[in-house]
Amino acid sequence: MKKLTSVLLALLITPISYAGGNPEHVSFPKDYQSKFTQYDTRNRVNGKQVAVLYANETALNSASGSKLADGSKIVMEVYKTKLGEDGKPITDDNGLFVKAKFAAIAVMEKRSNWDASFNSKQRAGDWRFAIYKTDGTVKDNKLDCASCHTPMPDSDFLFSYSSLIEFVK
Ligand code: HEC
Repeated sequence: MKKLTSVLLALLITPISYAGGNPEHVSFPKDYQSKFTQYDTRNRVNGKQVAVLYANETALNSASGSKLADGSKIVMEVYKTKLGEDGKPITDDNGLFVKAKFAAIAVMEKRSNWDASFNSKQRAGDWRFAIYKTDGTVKDNKLDCASCHTPMPDSDFLFSYSSLIEFVK
Protein backbone atom coordinates (compact mmCIF):
# COMPACT_ATOMS: atom_id res chain seq x y z
CA MET A 1 0.00 0.00 0.00
CA LYS A 2 2.82 2.32 0.88
CA LYS A 3 4.39 1.58 -2.47
CA LEU A 4 1.14 2.22 -4.29
CA THR A 5 0.72 5.51 -2.48
CA SER A 6 4.18 6.65 -3.44
CA VAL A 7 3.61 5.66 -7.07
CA LEU A 8 0.36 7.59 -7.12
CA LEU A 9 2.06 10.53 -5.47
CA ALA A 10 4.85 10.42 -8.03
CA LEU A 11 2.31 10.40 -10.84
CA LEU A 12 0.60 13.40 -9.34
CA ILE A 13 3.73 15.35 -8.67
CA THR A 14 5.86 14.40 -11.65
CA PRO A 15 4.23 16.33 -14.51
CA ILE A 16 4.14 19.50 -12.41
CA SER A 17 7.68 19.28 -11.19
CA TYR A 18 9.38 19.31 -14.58
CA ALA A 19 6.68 20.79 -16.82
CA GLY A 20 8.66 21.36 -20.02
CA GLY A 21 9.58 18.24 -21.95
CA ASN A 22 9.06 14.55 -21.28
CA PRO A 23 12.15 13.16 -19.58
CA GLU A 24 10.20 9.99 -18.76
CA HIS A 25 10.37 9.21 -22.48
CA VAL A 26 13.29 11.24 -23.80
CA SER A 27 16.13 9.85 -21.73
CA PHE A 28 19.44 11.53 -21.04
CA PRO A 29 22.02 10.30 -23.59
CA LYS A 30 24.77 10.04 -20.98
CA ASP A 31 27.54 9.17 -23.43
CA TYR A 32 26.75 11.95 -25.93
CA GLN A 33 30.15 13.61 -25.48
CA SER A 34 31.95 10.54 -26.80
CA LYS A 35 29.27 9.03 -29.07
CA PHE A 36 27.69 12.11 -30.65
CA THR A 37 29.40 14.59 -32.95
CA GLN A 38 29.64 18.29 -32.22
CA TYR A 39 28.34 20.17 -35.27
CA ASP A 40 27.96 23.76 -34.15
CA THR A 41 28.59 26.33 -31.43
CA ARG A 42 26.49 29.46 -31.52
CA ASN A 43 25.32 32.41 -29.50
CA ARG A 44 21.75 31.78 -28.48
CA VAL A 45 19.01 33.96 -29.92
CA ASN A 46 18.17 35.08 -26.37
CA GLY A 47 21.50 36.95 -26.36
CA LYS A 48 22.46 35.52 -22.97
CA GLN A 49 23.74 32.01 -23.57
CA VAL A 50 25.99 29.89 -25.75
CA ALA A 51 24.79 26.64 -27.31
CA VAL A 52 27.06 23.74 -28.20
CA LEU A 53 25.23 21.33 -30.49
CA TYR A 54 25.74 17.60 -30.91
CA ALA A 55 24.04 15.04 -33.19
CA ASN A 56 23.98 11.27 -32.98
CA GLU A 57 25.03 9.08 -35.87
CA THR A 58 21.50 8.53 -37.16
CA ALA A 59 21.02 12.29 -37.41
CA LEU A 60 24.38 12.83 -39.12
CA ASN A 61 23.82 10.01 -41.59
CA SER A 62 20.46 11.36 -42.63
CA ALA A 63 21.35 15.06 -42.72
CA SER A 64 21.18 15.51 -46.46
CA GLY A 65 17.51 15.67 -47.37
CA SER A 66 14.63 17.58 -45.89
CA LYS A 67 14.20 15.44 -42.78
CA LEU A 68 16.32 13.51 -40.32
CA ALA A 69 15.72 9.79 -39.84
CA ASP A 70 13.80 8.10 -37.09
CA GLY A 71 16.10 7.60 -34.10
CA SER A 72 17.84 10.96 -34.53
CA LYS A 73 18.92 12.68 -31.33
CA ILE A 74 20.17 16.23 -30.91
CA VAL A 75 21.80 17.55 -27.75
CA MET A 76 22.25 21.22 -26.92
CA GLU A 77 24.63 22.13 -24.12
CA VAL A 78 23.63 25.49 -22.70
CA TYR A 79 26.25 27.76 -21.14
CA LYS A 80 25.88 31.02 -19.33
CA THR A 81 28.18 33.77 -20.57
CA LYS A 82 30.76 36.06 -19.06
CA LEU A 83 29.34 39.54 -18.81
CA GLY A 84 31.22 42.78 -19.37
CA GLU A 85 30.82 45.92 -17.30
CA ASP A 86 27.93 46.95 -19.54
CA GLY A 87 26.10 43.78 -18.52
CA LYS A 88 26.36 42.33 -22.02
CA PRO A 89 28.13 39.08 -22.89
CA ILE A 90 31.80 39.39 -23.73
CA THR A 91 32.62 38.03 -27.21
CA ASP A 92 35.75 36.31 -28.45
CA ASP A 93 37.57 36.99 -31.76
CA ASN A 94 34.99 34.92 -33.66
CA GLY A 95 32.07 36.84 -32.24
CA LEU A 96 31.10 33.98 -29.95
CA PHE A 97 30.09 34.81 -26.40
CA VAL A 98 32.69 33.68 -23.88
CA LYS A 99 31.33 30.69 -21.99
CA ALA A 100 30.81 30.77 -18.25
CA LYS A 101 28.91 28.18 -16.20
CA PHE A 102 27.65 25.02 -17.92
CA ALA A 103 23.94 25.37 -17.18
CA ALA A 104 21.82 22.69 -18.84
CA ILE A 105 21.53 19.96 -21.45
CA ALA A 106 18.52 20.06 -23.77
CA VAL A 107 17.63 16.95 -25.74
CA MET A 108 15.44 16.31 -28.77
CA GLU A 109 14.65 12.81 -29.95
CA LYS A 110 12.83 11.80 -33.10
CA ARG A 111 10.70 8.67 -33.28
CA SER A 112 7.65 7.72 -35.27
CA ASN A 113 6.46 5.19 -32.70
CA TRP A 114 5.88 7.31 -29.62
CA ASP A 115 3.27 5.98 -27.23
CA ALA A 116 -0.14 6.93 -28.62
CA SER A 117 -1.17 8.39 -25.26
CA PHE A 118 1.39 11.15 -25.75
CA ASN A 119 -0.19 14.55 -26.11
CA SER A 120 0.72 15.73 -29.61
CA LYS A 121 0.96 19.32 -28.31
CA GLN A 122 4.13 18.26 -26.53
CA ARG A 123 5.63 17.18 -29.82
CA ALA A 124 7.04 19.05 -32.80
CA GLY A 125 6.47 16.69 -35.69
CA ASP A 126 7.96 13.42 -34.45
CA TRP A 127 10.35 15.18 -32.06
CA ARG A 128 10.03 15.05 -28.30
CA PHE A 129 11.90 17.10 -25.74
CA ALA A 130 13.60 16.96 -22.36
CA ILE A 131 15.99 19.14 -20.44
CA TYR A 132 18.56 17.95 -17.92
CA LYS A 133 20.95 19.40 -15.41
CA THR A 134 24.60 18.98 -16.26
CA ASP A 135 24.77 15.89 -14.02
CA GLY A 136 22.07 14.23 -16.13
CA THR A 137 19.22 14.58 -13.66
CA VAL A 138 15.93 16.16 -14.72
CA LYS A 139 15.89 19.95 -14.70
CA ASP A 140 12.74 21.65 -13.45
CA ASN A 141 11.50 24.21 -15.91
CA LYS A 142 8.37 25.93 -17.14
CA LEU A 143 9.21 25.93 -20.83
CA ASP A 144 6.74 24.87 -23.46
CA CYS A 145 9.37 23.22 -25.60
CA ALA A 146 7.25 22.33 -28.59
CA SER A 147 5.77 25.82 -28.97
CA CYS A 148 8.96 27.39 -30.32
CA HIS A 149 10.02 24.43 -32.44
CA THR A 150 6.64 23.56 -33.99
CA PRO A 151 6.46 26.50 -36.44
CA MET A 152 9.49 25.19 -38.35
CA PRO A 153 8.47 22.09 -40.33
CA ASP A 154 10.69 23.16 -43.25
CA SER A 155 13.83 22.70 -41.17
CA ASP A 156 12.55 19.53 -39.50
CA PHE A 157 11.63 21.60 -36.42
CA LEU A 158 15.28 22.39 -35.70
CA PHE A 159 16.76 25.87 -35.48
CA SER A 160 20.17 24.56 -36.44
CA TYR A 161 19.15 22.29 -39.33
CA SER A 162 21.15 24.27 -41.91
CA SER A 163 24.26 24.09 -39.69
CA LEU A 164 23.93 20.33 -39.50
CA ILE A 165 23.51 20.05 -43.29
CA GLU A 166 26.56 22.30 -43.80
CA PHE A 167 28.56 20.29 -41.29
CA VAL A 168 28.08 16.94 -43.03
CA LYS A 169 28.69 18.31 -46.54
C1 HEC B 1 11.36 30.43 -26.55
C2 HEC B 1 11.54 29.45 -27.61
C3 HEC B 1 12.09 28.09 -27.26
C4 HEC B 1 11.62 27.21 -26.31
C5 HEC B 1 10.46 27.39 -25.35
C6 HEC B 1 12.47 26.04 -26.43
N1 HEC B 1 13.41 26.20 -27.42
FE1 HEC B 1 14.76 24.81 -28.02
N2 HEC B 1 15.62 26.19 -29.23
C7 HEC B 1 15.15 27.48 -29.43
C8 HEC B 1 16.11 28.20 -30.28
C9 HEC B 1 15.96 29.64 -30.75
C10 HEC B 1 17.13 27.29 -30.58
C11 HEC B 1 18.40 27.54 -31.41
C12 HEC B 1 19.52 27.97 -30.47
C13 HEC B 1 19.31 29.38 -30.03
O1 HEC B 1 19.60 30.30 -30.78
O2 HEC B 1 18.78 29.59 -28.92
C14 HEC B 1 16.78 26.03 -29.93
C15 HEC B 1 17.51 24.88 -30.05
C16 HEC B 1 17.23 23.70 -29.41
C17 HEC B 1 17.96 22.47 -29.58
C18 HEC B 1 19.07 22.25 -30.59
C19 HEC B 1 18.43 21.78 -31.91
C20 HEC B 1 17.88 22.94 -32.74
O3 HEC B 1 16.65 23.14 -32.78
O4 HEC B 1 18.68 23.64 -33.35
C21 HEC B 1 17.44 21.56 -28.71
C22 HEC B 1 17.90 20.14 -28.50
C23 HEC B 1 16.36 22.22 -28.00
N3 HEC B 1 16.25 23.52 -28.47
C24 HEC B 1 15.60 21.63 -27.02
C25 HEC B 1 14.59 22.30 -26.33
C26 HEC B 1 13.93 21.76 -25.15
C27 HEC B 1 14.21 20.41 -24.54
C28 HEC B 1 13.03 22.69 -24.73
C29 HEC B 1 12.10 22.64 -23.53
C30 HEC B 1 12.68 22.31 -22.24
C31 HEC B 1 13.14 23.82 -25.66
N4 HEC B 1 14.09 23.54 -26.61
C32 HEC B 1 12.36 24.96 -25.58
C33 HEC B 1 13.99 28.02 -28.94
C34 HEC B 1 13.22 27.45 -27.94
